[in-house]
Amino acid sequence: MKVAPYLAAIDVLVQNSQARGECFGRITIEAMAFKLPVLGTAAGGTMEIVVNRTTGLLHHAGKDGVLPLASNIVKLATNMEMRRTMGKKGYERVKEMFLEHHMSHRIASVLREVLQHAKIHSRTTNSDH
Ligand SMILES: *[C@@H]1O[C@H](CO)[C@@H](O)[C@H](O)[C@H]1NC(C)=O
Repeated sequence: MKVAPYLAAIDVLVQNSQARGECFGRITIEAMAFKLPVLGTAAGGTMEIVVNRTTGLLHHAGKDGVLPLASNIVKLATNMEMRRTMGKKGYERVKEMFLEHHMSHRIASVLREVLQHAKIHSRTTNSDH
């Protein structure tokens, strides 16, 4: 599925995977490449990709995470500066991970594709800010 048009239209990614969390983290990486902050569960791949309070906000999986997630959504929904800062840091983080070559070909090819889209996207949207 091509997610680029959806990512281009939203302000925040909520990655509320339960149980083992998200294993590979493709959508999380894609969102960050689109300079979106991520509200994710502290589980699985999400935890390794999202830096709590820097590139997004993490909440615990299960019942304990429900209220923190709700308050994190409100926090970001009402704070454009925080969204922008976290989004930018997330973009830098995935780019760094990409450049470090510490990862599999699979991640590398996803990122190459997404960063390409993100670049095109930011070129077309920066002009209206
Ligand atoms: C993320 O940071 C917030 C703010 O310090 C904290 O309340 C929350 O427990 C942290 N989340 C996790 C999953 O550690």
